[in-house]
Order: sequence, then C-alpha cells, then structure tokens
Amino acid sequence: MKFDLKINGTARQVDVPEDMPLLWVLRDVVGLTGTKFGCGIAQCGACTVHLDGEAIRSCVTPIGTVGSAEITTIEAVGGSPEGEKIQNAWLDLEVVQCGYCQSGQIMQATALLRATPKPTDADIDDAMAGNICRCGTYPRIRAAIKSAAEA
Ligand code: FES
Ligand code: FES
Repeated sequence: MKFDLKINGTARQVDVPEDMPLLWVLRDVVGLTGTKFGCGIAQCGACTVHLDGEAIRSCVTPIGTVGSAEITTIEAVGGSPEGEKIQNAWLDLEVVQCGYCQSGQIMQATALLRATPKPTDADIDDAMAGNICRCGTYPRIRAAIKSAAEA
C-alpha cells in the first residue's frame, strides 16, 4: 500500500504494508538509521520520534496510522530551536556514553522543552521516565535539559 509521508520536511512515498511499524519504515525503507530499535514493545524509548512535535514510540506506531502528520527524526531535530538547544547542551555536558539510547533521549527531551520551557525536576522525571539508559546517564540528561532550558 502506498503512503505519502512528510519526513524531516521532505515528501516521501513508501509502498509497505499498513501495519508496518514506523520505525521499520524509517530505518529499512527510507534509510534513516539514527532512530534505534531497542525493545519493540514501547518499553525503552530508543525509537522515539516526533509526530507533529509530539514524542511517540515508532516501534508500536503502524505506518497506516500516521496520516499527514509531520514526522521528525534525530537527523533533523536540530533544525528546531528546542532541538538545537538540547543537542548543544548534550555536547557541552558530554551526556552520551555508549550512545544507543541517546536519539530517543534527545527526541523526548526536545518534546519536553517545547511543551514546558522551564521544566522542574519532577517535570523532567515524568517526561523522561519511559526512556531507559543502560549506561545510567540519567544525571547528565537531567543536567543537560536544565542547561538547555536556561540557554
Ligand atoms: S524500541 Fe520502541 S520503545 Fe523500545
Ligand atoms: S548511553 Fe548507553 S544506553 Fe544510554
């Protein structure tokens, strides 16, 4: 089935089954491999992308449900003011360890900053609770979100 998608500001047509997860479409069909596969069951956050600015888990989002929503991935999140601030703070504070979870962390943090420009610790904990980091970078993630909020 053909789907007309808007990914990172570019129109893309894909011909895939309607129940194919958006994550598969992004990585295997479109070739945007910055978004990662972790659990496949909405439990880790590694696959987080934005649909119309909202953070969603692309591993459990069938392509048939995306419709005309604007898809943004880690490859383009730096094009928004919040995404740029978050990415700069991530670099300044050297948040990343192995890096595997970090696309999802940055996408989730950017959506948080857009919705809540000055997040409290509780806001950060709530928003980031579903993004797992096996390297335990949580303290640096929290510090980087605060730094981005001040920028
Ligand atoms: S891969 Fe989607 S939440 Fe884990
Ligand atoms: S940086 Fe390694 S899993 Fe998060």
